[in-house]
Amino acid sequence: MSIAMNQKKDIFLLNTRSSSYAFGIDDQGLVRHLYWGEKIESVEDFEMPVLTEVSTNDPVFEITREEFPVYGSLRYKEHCLKAAFADGIREVVYQYCGYEVIQTEMYEELIIQLKDTCYDFAINLHYKVYADYDLMERSVTVENRTSEVIQIEKLHSGQFHIPYEGLNFSNVHGHWGAEQQRFVQKVSYGKIVIENRRGISTHNHNPYFILDKDATQTSGDVYFGALKMSGNFSGVIEQTQYGETLAQIGLNSHDFMLELKPGETFEAPGILCGYSGSGFETMSQNLHHFALKHILREGFRPVLYNSWEATEFKVNSQEQIKLAKKAKEIGAELFVLDDGWFGERHGIDNGLGDWYVNESKFPNGLDELISEVKALDMMFGIWVEPEMVNPKAQLYQEHPDWIYHFETRTSDTSRGQYVLNLTKKEVQNFVYKMLDDLLTEHDIDYIKWDANRPISQTCLQKDIWYYHIKAIYDIVTELKKKHPNVLFEACASGGGRTDYGILGIFDDFWTSDNTDAYDRLYIQDAYSYIYPIKAMRAWVTDCPNFLSGRVIPMKFRYHSAMMGTLGIGCNILKFTEEDVAISKEMVRQYKEIRPIVQEGDFYRLENSSANQYFLYEYLKDDQGLIFAFLPQSKVGHRGTRVRMRGLEADAMYTLLTENGEIRKSGRYLMNHGLDLRLAGDYASTLIQFTREK
Ligand code: DGJ
Repeated sequence: MSIAMNQKKDIFLLNTRSSSYAFGIDDQGLVRHLYWGEKIESVEDFEMPVLTEVSTNDPVFEITREEFPVYGSLRYKEHCLKAAFADGIREVVYQYCGYEVIQTEMYEELIIQLKDTCYDFAINLHYKVYADYDLMERSVTVENRTSEVIQIEKLHSGQFHIPYEGLNFSNVHGHWGAEQQRFVQKVSYGKIVIENRRGISTHNHNPYFILDKDATQTSGDVYFGALKMSGNFSGVIEQTQYGETLAQIGLNSHDFMLELKPGETFEAPGILCGYSGSGFETMSQNLHHFALKHILREGFRPVLYNSWEATEFKVNSQEQIKLAKKAKEIGAELFVLDDGWFGERHGIDNGLGDWYVNESKFPNGLDELISEVKALDMMFGIWVEPEMVNPKAQLYQEHPDWIYHFETRTSDTSRGQYVLNLTKKEVQNFVYKMLDDLLTEHDIDYIKWDANRPISQTCLQKDIWYYHIKAIYDIVTELKKKHPNVLFEACASGGGRTDYGILGIFDDFWTSDNTDAYDRLYIQDAYSYIYPIKAMRAWVTDCPNFLSGRVIPMKFRYHSAMMGTLGIGCNILKFTEEDVAISKEMVRQYKEIRPIVQEGDFYRLENSSANQYFLYEYLKDDQGLIFAFLPQSKVGHRGTRVRMRGLEADAMYTLLTENGEIRKSGRYLMNHGLDLRLAGDYASTLIQFTREK
């Protein structure tokens, strides 16, 4: 049992394999946090401290560690819920009504039932315990049992308390072409806010928090929570005046208002959260393991070829067939036709919304290309951007009211397009039907779903920020019921939709439009803190790179992309014989190591050198890999010592390096480490190793 309770004291203890989370109900009926950290087996150890006001300036509500602070009473701190009732009263006063425990094969769940003292408004706090993964999932449901609308102005899915000051907060910042730029900052007095207000995508911040107490990869306390939602979120970190740090995350209340109708229940997005007492590595691995087992669909992800960087909008059947043949020669398993195949799509300003096959580009229809691809024994994938419409498109001419707009204002275009109001049933039906027809009429295995602009002129409802995203989730979930073998890639101008809301509904993330192999090392490193490697699409593309202008050797480019789910985005028709030969060999090797890359344990290894080596290890059962990169030699001949992780100390390992075979004990490799020296710029190596029987 992972949920224990002391009925007399009204205290609940949630235990995972190695952590505990405790809270209880106090004498005033408040749900009060007690503990989060290393495992404490017995619920009997916990007491609910009696709170007394220290001063009228520090009201009890302010100093109380609440699991779910609501707006109202003498509370001035961040609240998770603000609701207004039909009579205008905008304060929630809850009472504790009881609890329920649900047991499933996957988790145990505790539901704390709260209700407003005056209005029939229920608030249920949900805690799912995934004990084997050292993870929990917190969420909240609100239910309107009154006969009038209740307005929900703010809803964060939970509050966390970390009993320290001076913590480090980490997340990522970025923009298009530079997603997942990891940053770490000291938490001091005041608040840190991370958020997205754009509706569609999240290049700027990612919906998670990590708070650590000077942790390293392998040591120290780390507290984290990742929100299961794309689109508008907000997260607040606050070191309070009372010696602790708070973290909250949930729906962004910016321009938000949910009208909860009589009888309606709303479930806020969950927060996948946990504590690691042994640094970031354990945090990442727990999340990765959970995602592999319970979020991502089974099976290895195919090596894909995508023609976007090669042809952009200038696609045509014959050239795509040539590309497909070449992709097959190199070893690709999936051919993806990107933007430009439909409507009058010759650039960014037309076509979106008109999802018929462009006859001048595909005079014999799409099936000519698809059958060639299938004859090559490859899977076929296609690009769509279903949430959008161009003003020139027929769809817009027929349905100008289908876009987000304000009657008296001019709607902004961005990338030459408008956003369809996906909260309208008829628009949802259109998008579903368009995709269902596409998948029914053609033999398609893979959909790359793109979204290239934020929402503006949102129409009058203030809940579209949430319901737009929900519509996408619902449409894809429905499509998958009918077309269960189709894989979906989540793309929003690159990595704008990398989050635990979309993952599982979609199967892959397009991590970034930045395909520069060196920039990607930073992006991929940061990505790996929270998200599983199996969903990290990474392409090898041409040089000079279109974004950075850098010229990087093919080997380094492959190694960088082989750290995730490998794709190729080069103009392979221009490949030299040497390019083809390297590509064939790299793709062959990737297929051999794919189970380890996509499903192995991932380690960010320490670099001991003054030269900036990037070192990563993957380990699956008795097989493993080390990827080593040296983008630039700075300090002459300095090598590095690669101290490996996760090995069996007493076992012997054989390592296949470019300079021959090495045989060492696990103990040696983990403590002394493997001496490695790369030279020059953009040097890289991939070492495969095996544990001897
Ligand atoms: C943005 C995506 O990130 C690219 O990979 C590509 O699909 C383009 N859109 C196509 O317009």
